[in-house]
Amino acid sequence: MAEASGISLIAESEQIQPPESYRLKSYVQSYEDYQTLYQRSIDNPAGFWASVADELTWDERGATVIEGDMPNFRFFPGSSINVAVNCVDRHAENPLTKNKVALFFEGENGDRRAVTYLQLSDEVQKFASILRSFGLQKGDVVSVYMQNLVETYVVLLACFRLGVVYNTVFAGFSAEALRERIVSSNAKMVVCANASYRRGRVLQLKQTVDEAVQGVASVEQVVVFNRIPSADTPMTAGRDYDYDALMAAAKPSCPAAKLDCNDPGLLIFTSGTSGRPKGIVHAGGGFLLGTYAYTKYQLDLRPEDVYWNTADIGWLTSHIFVLVGGLALGTTTILYEGALDYPQPGRLYEVVERYRVNKLFSAPTAYRMMLKHGEEVAQRYDLSTLELLVSVGEPFNPEAWHWVRRVVGGGKAVINNTWGQTETGGTPLASLPGAVPMKPGSCGVPFFGHKLDVVDLDGQVVADGTPGYLVVRNVFPSLARDVFGDHDRYLKSYFSQVPGAYFTGDSAVRDADGQYWVLGRVDDVINVSGHRISTMEMESSLIQHEAVVEAAVVGQPDEVRGAVPVAFVTLEQGLAPSVELETALKAQIVRDIGPFARPDKVVFVEGMPKTRSGKIIRRMLREIIQEGTVKGDVTGLEDMDILEQLVQDISGR
Ligand code: PRX
Repeated sequence: MAEASGISLIAESEQIQPPESYRLKSYVQSYEDYQTLYQRSIDNPAGFWASVADELTWDERGATVIEGDMPNFRFFPGSSINVAVNCVDRHAENPLTKNKVALFFEGENGDRRAVTYLQLSDEVQKFASILRSFGLQKGDVVSVYMQNLVETYVVLLACFRLGVVYNTVFAGFSAEALRERIVSSNAKMVVCANASYRRGRVLQLKQTVDEAVQGVASVEQVVVFNRIPSADTPMTAGRDYDYDALMAAAKPSCPAAKLDCNDPGLLIFTSGTSGRPKGIVHAGGGFLLGTYAYTKYQLDLRPEDVYWNTADIGWLTSHIFVLVGGLALGTTTILYEGALDYPQPGRLYEVVERYRVNKLFSAPTAYRMMLKHGEEVAQRYDLSTLELLVSVGEPFNPEAWHWVRRVVGGGKAVINNTWGQTETGGTPLASLPGAVPMKPGSCGVPFFGHKLDVVDLDGQVVADGTPGYLVVRNVFPSLARDVFGDHDRYLKSYFSQVPGAYFTGDSAVRDADGQYWVLGRVDDVINVSGHRISTMEMESSLIQHEAVVEAAVVGQPDEVRGAVPVAFVTLEQGLAPSVELETALKAQIVRDIGPFARPDKVVFVEGMPKTRSGKIIRRMLREIIQEGTVKGDVTGLEDMDILEQLVQDISGR
């Protein structure tokens, strides 16, 4: 399951202790303390989650902490809690924090704005009044197609205030992908920015929305925030509303709804093993409870921190660690709109220096981008405030890890590589930065209240040092509660493989020190720059092209992006490969999914390697592009001659 080199890397890895100065500020200050607290949380998970709940503001709190087990479970059933009250109101009502900056916005074009908790509260209440005036109610879905903006936060927090379920769709998705998400979630409203800056270009988001909602009966309103007033934005009378005009006329206050801790709060689509994306449903209160705990202990987040998580609001990372976890902890965070290396390669460092960021959270792909731009760029800036660098989303290779710690972290910052998924609504694996020794490349240790195992297909725990399937044995509050509109798919995708456990779809190794190393997916999902893409989703796009008979997509390792997709296609009889066709097929994927999924190459082949039952063996295609030949087991192959032909087709390019 794993490359031999990966395993030896684990065996040889060193342990690096967090610096004393950091340790002393940390919530958990030694490995022994972590072990004691962890054991206590596993022996009595209800006790642990109740202690987290004590730090939050409840409308009503009953005695039951956990009810049921996988896959039917609830946390604090019958208790009510409002996410927006916890993330905004309680800081806005506290005289000590009401004038504290909640968000520093920095646009790619250099626009800047600071928003205090009090100001955020005023705006959230106004937008909640707008939602209410349009008749949106608890459980209705609003689709949000915006980049990182203050207004995006206002909209999402307003939804939380009313129990309206939001669905953020990454603003890099195409009209087709957005439409699919709007239709499958039955959204009643779409909120978008008219446009976005990306590498200096103006992306016309509203035009994409217009295309996406054409003929979609469920959508009654489209609310448009004019991020770039000079962009030409046609509006449809009776359907489209200007955000600023609505806000100017909105009622200034709007009471928060009383919501059960398990009511749905948000919906986010992610790639699964089949072609169709899954709408992952998270409970609002449960998500708050979980993300508060992850953010507090894994980032040691404190009110005095200046914290920057570079994730885009289209991905759950920023909901976990900023929108909900970060704001619930009353932090000051930076919200950045565009590309991290635009208009010059040191843009990220410039932002760190300007705001004196001390905690930076990004993805391995961004850290590798820094490495690629080189040390000299980093040296132009004062990065001495950085004391914690966090990562999530893909394997963090030791080379990049060491470079980042030395060059960006001044040789002293703590690095915390966390592991999580859209479905886990948080990061069950991470270090507690002051307590757990760092191992470059590892994902740390299980979080309080989470019992993880590495198992074989019978559910038996494998020996330390041996790869297996990563599973979680017990329930936790931010674990996905459903797949929107498809409960069977929820049960089948996550709870059918290993009885009584949540199946992550990842392979992992636990080492002799109890640290976990996540090796990669065991299904047909690839991770491109931290974006999870289903290869089947790409294949189903390709085969819709009239020239294509069969398609197979595999990931090819890439220095910066982790992996890039490579598409293999066979053509209709009589058609010849051409540059035009390659361009058209790449464009088809961009249209159906988005530019981030564009294949690096399209390889035209005579035939695919298949099993006797006709299944394409993608592993062999992967081996040929990576190693030029197939070294693994070929006994299942239906037609041996195909391999030679494939090697020729591929190397003949
Ligand atoms: O394969 C794992 C990989 O990313 C997947 C989850 O992607 P997504 O749902 O987009 O999650 C976003 C995070 C909230 C996982 O199944 N992954 C995540 N973190 C790591 C990782 N692979 C290796 N190392 C990690 N630290």
